[in-house]
Amino acid sequence: MTVTIHPVPSGFADAQSISAERYRADYQRSIEQPEAFWADVAKRIDWFKFPSKIKDVSFQLDDFHIRWFEDGELNVSVNCLDRHLETRGDKTAILWEGDDPQQSEQISYRDLHARVCRLANAMRNLGVQKGDRVSIYLPMIPEAAVAMLACTRIGAIHSIVFGGFSPDALAGRIADCGSKIIITADEGLRGGKAVPLKKNVDEALTRPGTHCVETVIVVRRTGNAVSLQMPRDRWYHTLVEGQPSQCEPERMNAEDPLFILYTSGSTGKPKGVLHSTGGYLTYASYTHACVFDLREDDVFWCTADVGWVTGHSYVVYGPLANGATSLMFEGVPSYPDMGRFWQVCDKHKVTLFYTAPTAIRALMREGDAPVKRHSRSSIRLLGTVGEPINPEAWEWYYRVVGDSRCPIVDTWWQTETGGILISPLPAATDLKPGSATKPFFGVQPALVDAEGKRLEGAADGNLVLLDSWPGQMRSVYGDHQRFIDTYFKTYPGTYFTGDGCRRDEDGYYWITGRVDDVINVSGHRIGTAEVESALVAHPKVAEAAVVGCPHDIKGQGIYAYVTLNVGETPSEELRKELVAFVRKEIGPIASPDHLQWAPGLPKTRSGKIMRRILRKIAENAPDQLGDTSTLADPAVVDNLLNERLIR
Ligand code: WT7
Repeated sequence: MTVTIHPVPSGFADAQSISAERYRADYQRSIEQPEAFWADVAKRIDWFKFPSKIKDVSFQLDDFHIRWFEDGELNVSVNCLDRHLETRGDKTAILWEGDDPQQSEQISYRDLHARVCRLANAMRNLGVQKGDRVSIYLPMIPEAAVAMLACTRIGAIHSIVFGGFSPDALAGRIADCGSKIIITADEGLRGGKAVPLKKNVDEALTRPGTHCVETVIVVRRTGNAVSLQMPRDRWYHTLVEGQPSQCEPERMNAEDPLFILYTSGSTGKPKGVLHSTGGYLTYASYTHACVFDLREDDVFWCTADVGWVTGHSYVVYGPLANGATSLMFEGVPSYPDMGRFWQVCDKHKVTLFYTAPTAIRALMREGDAPVKRHSRSSIRLLGTVGEPINPEAWEWYYRVVGDSRCPIVDTWWQTETGGILISPLPAATDLKPGSATKPFFGVQPALVDAEGKRLEGAADGNLVLLDSWPGQMRSVYGDHQRFIDTYFKTYPGTYFTGDGCRRDEDGYYWITGRVDDVINVSGHRIGTAEVESALVAHPKVAEAAVVGCPHDIKGQGIYAYVTLNVGETPSEELRKELVAFVRKEIGPIASPDHLQWAPGLPKTRSGKIMRRILRKIAENAPDQLGDTSTLADPAVVDNLLNERLIR
C-alpha cells in the first residue's frame, strides 16, 4: 500500500506550538531524565504540597509498584475550578449543547465552581466521606461534570456507568465497588428519544449486592413522571438548594484514588480500572494541552460521553484543569440530521474537534453535502480516538471536514492509560493516514513477538510499554492481583496493552487492533466472555462462542455462534429473542450483529474452543483457517462454513 504523507498544514503552527525539533529534544529528555521532566510538568498543577518524590516504579513481579508524585498533595476540583477564578472567572468552562438544537447553556468557571460546591456540601451532609464510592448514571448534561467534580472536592471516588448500560450491568458495577450514593436523572434524551435512567436504577437496586446504596440523587432532566422511593430518593434540585457556594476542598494525596471506570477484558466480568489523583490529572492536563495545541481562546469539543474514559480525560478533567472551554454535547451525530456536528461547530465556533472513527465513517456514508452545508471555518484541528481509522475515512475527514487545512491527531490510548500515549503533535509530526504516529513524552512503546522476544526496527508484533507514565491506572478496584496478572505477566517487566501493532521504517506506530478476546465495537470495548455468558444465561442455550467480525461503520461487529439445548429448534424468532436477551443483559452496544446456529463448536481434544477458526469464518476467510488437524471433530467446521452469515 502506498502511504500519502501529509506534512503540517502551512499556517497551522506558530512559535507557541511544539515543533519537530522540540518534540525530539523533549522526548529524549523525558526518557533519559523522567524525574526532572515530570517534575517540570507537575508545575502546571496547583499543589497544596509540591511532591518531593516524582517517580517510583517497578514492573518486576517480585517488587511491583507504581507511584507518581507520591508525597504531593492536591485537590482536583481546586485545579479545575478555584485556581481559574481570578483570571477566568467569567470564561465559559462548559458550553453545553442539548439534544434539542434549541437548547444550550454557557456555564462560567465561577458558576461551575458554585454548583460543584453546593453538591459537594450536600453530599457531605448525606454522610459521604473521603474514599467513599459514588456511582454516576447520568446523561451528557452539566450535572455530570458537576457530580464528578463534587466527588473530587470531598475525596469521594466516582464510578460513572454509561447511560446505555442495562440495569444488570449497572447493578454489577454498583455492587463491585459498594457505592453509597447514585446520581442519576429522571430520563436521558438522545436523538429525541427518552432513556429511562431512573427506572433502570430502580431495577438495578432490586439486584443482589446493591444494598450498599443509601441515597439516589435524581436530576430532573425531561420532567416526565418517575417514581420516587422516600427516603432513599432525593431530587437533586432540592438537595442543593440553599447549600453554600463555598466548600472546603479535601486535601488528597497524589496516590489517593480519583475514580473507578469499568472496562471489559478478555475474561471474566468488567474490571474496575482505578486511577490516581496526582498522576492522572497531571497527565490528562498535559496531553490535552500538547496534543491539541491548546490556546486560551480555543473552544474544545470532544464528542465522547463521560461514561467512557475519553469523556473523563478530554471532556472534563484535561480541559478544565487547563482552564479551557469544553463543549459538552447531549445528543447524537444524526439528530435532527446528519449535519449536526458541523451545525454545532458553527454555532459555538469550535476550534478543536475530537471524535471517533465510527462516527466519521457513518457521516462519510452520507456524502459531502451535509458537511458542506456548514462553514466549519472555526475548526483548526481534528482528532480521532477509539479504534484504528481506515485511510479512506482519514482522507475524507481531512479533505471534506477539514478542507485540507487542519491536521488530524489520531490518538491511541486506553481506559487503563488515563490519557493519550501515541499521537501526532500537530505542529511537529508529518501525518500518515491510519497511523497514530509517535509516542508522547515519557512513553516507551516496544514490539514483542508471541514469545516475548523484542522486535527491532520495522516490525509487526504485540505492543508493550517498557516504563510507566503518570496517568497509568494503579489497580483493579478490589483485586490488585488481577491488575498484575492481566497486564504484567504476559511479557514480564512490561505493561502489555492487548493490541497488535506495526512499526514502519520511519518509527511510526500503526495499531492493528486487539490481539486478545476483546472486540472494539464503535470504539467501545466488549469482552467476548461477557456476551457469551449473557447468551448461555438464556434457558434454551447450551453453549456460545463470540468473536469480532468486520463491520463497515462500527469497525468491528459482534458475531455469535450459538448451540441450543437438545430438543430446541433454531428459528428466526428465537434468533431475535437471543439478540434482545443480550441487549437486556448488558445493553444495546453488546447486541450481536450476527447470530449463527452452531450444532457444534470447533474444539481441541481437550475441549478448548478454537476461536481462531471461528474468527476466520466470521471474517469470511475460509481459505485462512490454518491447521485444523488438532480438532476433535473436523466436520464441525464444514458445517459452520456452509452456514456462515457473511460471504
Ligand atoms: C482500545 C482501548 C482510548 C479511549 C477510547 C477507547 C483501541 C483506541 C485507538 C487508535 C487504534 C485505538 C485499542 C485500545 N484504540 N484508540 N487511535 N487507533 N486503536 O478506550 O475502551 O479502553 O479501548 O481501543 O485497541 O486498546 P478503551
